[in-house]
Amino acid sequence: MTVPLIFQPLKIRNTVLPNRMVVSPLCMYSAIDGVAQPWHFAHLSTFARGQAGLVFTEATAVEARGRITPQCLGIWTDEQADALTPVTAFIESMGCIAGIQLAHAGRKASTRAPFVERGGSPITSSNAAEGETPWPTVAPSALAVAEGWPEPQALNSIDLQQVKQAFVDAARRALQAGFKVIELHMAHGYLLHSFLSPLGNQREDQYGGNLENRMRFPLEVTEAVREVWPESLPLFVRISAIDGRENGWNLDDSVAFSRKLNEAGVDVIDCSSGGIGGAPRFRSDDTGKPLTRESAREPGFQVPFSRRIKAETDIKTMAVGVIVDPHQAEEILQSGGADLVALGREIMYDPFWPLHAAEALEADVDFKMWPKQYAWAVDRRAQVKAFNAKSRGQTR
Ligand SMILES: Cc1cc2nc3c(=O)[nH]c(=O)nc-3n(C[C@H](O)[C@H](O)[C@H](O)COP(=O)(O)O)c2cc1C
Repeated sequence: MTVPLIFQPLKIRNTVLPNRMVVSPLCMYSAIDGVAQPWHFAHLSTFARGQAGLVFTEATAVEARGRITPQCLGIWTDEQADALTPVTAFIESMGCIAGIQLAHAGRKASTRAPFVERGGSPITSSNAAEGETPWPTVAPSALAVAEGWPEPQALNSIDLQQVKQAFVDAARRALQAGFKVIELHMAHGYLLHSFLSPLGNQREDQYGGNLENRMRFPLEVTEAVREVWPESLPLFVRISAIDGRENGWNLDDSVAFSRKLNEAGVDVIDCSSGGIGGAPRFRSDDTGKPLTRESAREPGFQVPFSRRIKAETDIKTMAVGVIVDPHQAEEILQSGGADLVALGREIMYDPFWPLHAAEALEADVDFKMWPKQYAWAVDRRAQVKAFNAKSRGQTR
């Protein structure tokens, strides 16, 4: 019996992912001063118990002003890195790989966590009573995200060096904390995406204007991180493959950018979309026509982006977005849609998704993948299956 692709290991550089199921970065808005809490340990370790091959942290800010909300994880201090060490150690102890998404929210920083009043919108001085004060945001150009958002400060050339250094320092700390994969967040309208998109970048220096100039700063950050990130370890980049807006970043740009990232030592392009003008609004086409929430988010709606980048470049890709069913996930891999599949909401709903996928695909994978402490559960499961099969037989 052949092992489904989703259960086959994938070697990237000298790092072997035990399978091709990845936990997509998922903000938890539960850190204190950027420091991981027991919640983060419980949340991330659950996915390793569930045997996802690669488990990413949420967007982890490289500097304080780059947090989306005051409750986001950070890695601009040693204390923050140390708090993540038990997480990476546990993930590794389960035979899985720990990854960190390094991020800077740019002009989309200083917002309220989604589950409080006015969630997702900018913090204002009226939130002082709740202990939240807004902080100044930064961007390629002094352009607000949308109406009602504050005008960010345009970064000058000295600021750019500081931001780049913050990414480099964060990568060094991530290594110390035991992470084996870094993903640079260049999607969803955050700082590095807003350099790429003409809708966020109207600079007149060498970092703005044509495509080559708009790619320059994100590529400089990539090269600087690659320099300190060991040769043996993989580097991923998450992009918004399309802005989905008129005159925005499009899929041709993403193909060109992926080639450049490949040259800069990136191993995997993680293909998301949208977000340049407001909350991440994922997109399935770049016509700019308004989409309903439902039409924009059909199962696998972002797979075509991953498929095209994979077909037209020499870089590996990861597909994400409403990948919910094991057969669907396997088909994406089998048909060349991606090298890896990432799951977000579905794996939060079912952290044991990989193990359930093995069952659904009748895969010849060793159920010893279950934590040994849970061996009784596997025995019990086999009994239940046998019992169900028997009672089905009796009712026929
Ligand atoms: C609660 C939540 C938090 C998220 N946080 C992040 C994040 O930190 N970084 C990121 O790139 N995407 C983030 N996303 C997007 C997911 O990683 C993923 O791309 C998206 O949810 C689509 O995949 P899904 O349909 O499997 O959920 C988040 C999504 C959700 C639902």
